[in-house]
Amino acid sequence: MMRVGVLVSGSGSNLQALINAAADPWFPADIVKVVSNVPGAFALDRSVLAGVATEIVDHRGRPRAEFEADLLRALGDVDLVCLAGFMRVLTGTFLGAFPGRVLNIHPGLLPLFPGLHAPRQALAAGVTQAGATLHLVDAGVDTGPILAQGTVAVLQGDTEATLAARILTVEHRLYPMGLRWMAEGRVVIEAGRAIVELKPGESRWVGGGGLAVR
Ligand code: GAR
Repeated sequence: MMRVGVLVSGSGSNLQALINAAADPWFPADIVKVVSNVPGAFALDRSVLAGVATEIVDHRGRPRAEFEADLLRALGDVDLVCLAGFMRVLTGTFLGAFPGRVLNIHPGLLPLFPGLHAPRQALAAGVTQAGATLHLVDAGVDTGPILAQGTVAVLQGDTEATLAARILTVEHRLYPMGLRWMAEGRVVIEAGRAIVELKPGESRWVGGGGLAVR
């Protein structure tokens, strides 16, 4: 059973999706620790309700190296880290502790619209399709190997809030799916790209543009 730590900063709906998936005894990963950099984040309430150990590691007013060292201490002996609405950029110091084992969900179809406010960027660009990307984290901002992507239509009259909410529903499907792949050892990275073995021993799928999920 893979031991998973989740880093959060906000509402934690992706955390909830992971907690719900892991409640299935057949799911190959356990959510064992939730760490928030924001005191009072609703994600912490979700985690307490689910009986998962929680901790706050505030980033404010302290050097980044110290913040990251504290995050690592708080996570303890987890095997893999999921960023779920975690709004800080992590450096190589943190990532080096979990090589190839940090996942992030992003509310945009990477490599389009990295960074903050991806739904707002999508609306401003006038695209007709938006979506979410699950990827492994490297030292860049939203640049790591893509595991899966899902799309939604941009509708007339969409605001940033309505589009972000539609994208979130996709995120909630992508994250448990990708975490399962990781926990089952079905993901290998070759030449900077994620290769997912969809059926053990059988078909292989190369995730360059991401796997579309509807
Ligand atoms: C999600 O849309 C997630 O993709 C995004 O923040 C939201 C968190 O929602 N993450 C980022 O923008 C990271 N750069 P949640 O707290 O309800 O899971």
